[in-house]
Amino acid sequence: MQKNVYITRKIPEVAEKMLREKGYEVDVNPKPKDLSKGKLISILKKKQYDAVLSLLTNKIDKEVYEAAPSVKIFSNYATGFDNIDLAEAKARGIAIANSPAPKTPESVAEHAIGLMFALAKRIPEGDRFTRAGKYKGWVPLLFLGSDVLGQTFGVVGTGRIGGRVAEMAHAMGMKVIYTDVKRNEELEQKCEAEYFKTVDELLPNADFVSLHVPLLPSTKHLINEKNLRLMKPTAFIINTSRGPVIDEGALALALEQKVIAGAGLDVYEFEPKINPALKKMESTVLTPHIASADTLVRNQMAEIAAQNIIDFFEGRTPKYAVNS
Ligand code: GLV
Repeated sequence: MQKNVYITRKIPEVAEKMLREKGYEVDVNPKPKDLSKGKLISILKKKQYDAVLSLLTNKIDKEVYEAAPSVKIFSNYATGFDNIDLAEAKARGIAIANSPAPKTPESVAEHAIGLMFALAKRIPEGDRFTRAGKYKGWVPLLFLGSDVLGQTFGVVGTGRIGGRVAEMAHAMGMKVIYTDVKRNEELEQKCEAEYFKTVDELLPNADFVSLHVPLLPSTKHLINEKNLRLMKPTAFIINTSRGPVIDEGALALALEQKVIAGAGLDVYEFEPKINPALKKMESTVLTPHIASADTLVRNQMAEIAAQNIIDFFEGRTPKYAVNS
């Protein structure tokens, strides 16, 4: 039977193509901006959709499910799915899937390592200085940076992405330490990594701390006013996971008071809003949630998100079902 699919924002065309090839009718939000929840609800009320291909910026909760009782699956164009009320979906028998592309860990790990170098080598600061015409010749003590090789890299969360970051840091000659809910012996062997049972135990020992946990009630404000003070004053924090994992106000204060040396952030607690203090500081490097924004990754994500929907309607459990 013909299926109607709604895609909440333009993504690589391969998704639409795969769905159309199956004979599905596909509507794509034509606007170059996010749909508010109210707008999404009003669209879903106008037509009997069977599936929604959503983004991490769409809040999918009880109100959305109630407005669209014909929708049987939400396939999220993201690795994370903290934007979706899974329990409510399960209670209603609605399938939820995500799209962790095979290349995502690589891409996010490269970004985290890129942020580390940008901070340590003060690249964005130096770039701003040079463009402003302030470079008047070589100065021995200009923009002194921090060492990277031989330093200690702390990974918080060693799933697919954190594990890849750890491997990259190890390959560069850094000492790797990590924390996770349980020990990761494979990582310990691969990266000669040392395990710390808690974040608070890891923090005083790292020169760079990189966050790779999903956003859960237990990881909200995992980094907070109290434990930022456990970090070395020379240390940097890097976040490519989810903004609310760090208490952003506390981070801004810690940076202002030089409790830590700097922060490289790709995600924000109240995205797309960013604490204005963080934007003013030279000790931050800020990117607009683009850690996985490689062409290949974005295409793989589109294929997976579409395939989830196809599998579901062809009677298979989607490979990336998250609430089955
Ligand atoms: C991006 O943040 C993702 O979850 O894919």
